[in-house]
Amino acid sequence: MEQYPLKNAVYVGHALLQPYIPTARVLVDMTCGNGHDTAFLAGHMSPQATLYAFDLQAQAIEATRKRLAAENLWSPQIKLQQGSHDKLLEELQETADIILFNLGYLPSGDHSLCTKGEITIKAIKIGLHKIAKMGIIMIAAYPGTETGAAEAEAVRSFLQKLPQKEFDVSSWQPLNQIHFPPILYMIQKRG
Ligand SMILES: C[S@@+](CC[C@H](N)C(=O)[O-])C[C@H]1O[C@@H](n2cnc3c(N)ncnc32)[C@H](O)[C@@H]1O
Repeated sequence: MEQYPLKNAVYVGHALLQPYIPTARVLVDMTCGNGHDTAFLAGHMSPQATLYAFDLQAQAIEATRKRLAAENLWSPQIKLQQGSHDKLLEELQETADIILFNLGYLPSGDHSLCTKGEITIKAIKIGLHKIAKMGIIMIAAYPGTETGAAEAEAVRSFLQKLPQKEFDVSSWQPLNQIHFPPILYMIQKRG
């Protein structure tokens, strides 16, 4: 069994998602950035599955392509698409089993091109319509900047209102870290 340090939202998210990946048929990385999450999903998915990886920036799509090639994970089953994830997810004709958001900005890029609460909520709403029964939407949010804090709060407030009969919604957050550590939100559509 792989071991994950339970130290931040990204690692905890990966640890929780990992058992669901091998049987997922459609996976979506909503913010591929430097490709770490895409490579994680690609490394555990079935060869028959399709993995979509979206990002607003050409630089991110290229970085993800390079990472997948360097880690020997490239396959025609992986579809890299540049654009805003709300629009790209809307166009998806399939039901998704896993939808992953890692919000914020590209560390090496233009920080103003970060995810924004309004678009993120729009994309989550679309995800709620596309997600399969027992499928998971996972969101790592970064409240360490003003925009990030507003976005994390908007996501929390939206998710708190989702109907309990349809979705199990929860969050995870470190308790003893200084500053404003990332928060993980999870939604599973009930079976
Ligand atoms: C924290 S980074 C993602 C990290 C990435 N998952 C990784 O593993 O390296 C956030 C990314 O969201 C992208 N982004 C911001 N707004 C977006 C939008 N509306 N649609 C798609 N991507 C967006 C940014 O370009 C940035 O690359």
